[in-house]
Amino acid sequence: MPSIMILNGPNLNCLGTREPHIYGTTTLGDIEKMCRDKARANNYTIKFYQSNHEGQLIDWIQSARNGYDGLIINAAAYTHTSIAIHDALKLLSIPIAEVHLSDPKAREEFRHHSFIESVAQFHFAGHGAQSYIMAIEAIISVIKTL
Ligand code: DQA
Repeated sequence: MPSIMILNGPNLNCLGTREPHIYGTTTLGDIEKMCRDKARANNYTIKFYQSNHEGQLIDWIQSARNGYDGLIINAAAYTHTSIAIHDALKLLSIPIAEVHLSDPKAREEFRHHSFIESVAQFHFAGHGAQSYIMAIEAIISVIKTL
C-alpha cells in the first residue's frame, strides 16, 4: 500500500486550546483521524508525526527517502525560520505539500516568508484542518500520474 508521511511542527500538539480564534478548536488528534480516514478510503497508509524539535523533524524528513510516496508538512513556526528543514526537503524526490491551518501571508509580516514554499509542489493554507485533506488529495492525484 502506498504511504504518505505527515509532519507537524512546534506547538501544533496544543491545537484545540491554542489561540482558538486563529486555529479553531480541532485538536491534532482530530486532524490525524481525518487524515487516516481519507487515506484509508484511497487505500493509502499514513504516518502522522508531531515534534517541537527541529532536528527530530529533519530526521523524519530524511527517513521519508525510504518507503514513502509523498510527504505533507506543516512546519509551523519553522516554516519562517528553518533553512535546515528547507535543505532536508531538497533531499526528497517524492511529492511534497506544504500545509497551514491559517493563512500566514494574511497575518503578521514575519510569517510572510516560507522556507518550505520553494521546495513543495503544493500549498494549502487558510482552510483549517481541510488544508491537510486537500494536500492528501493533491499528493494522491500526482502519484497516480507518476
Ligand atoms: C501555522 C502558521 C505558522 O505561522 C505558525 O507559526 C504555526 C501554525 C498554521 O498552521 O497556520 O504554528 O503553520
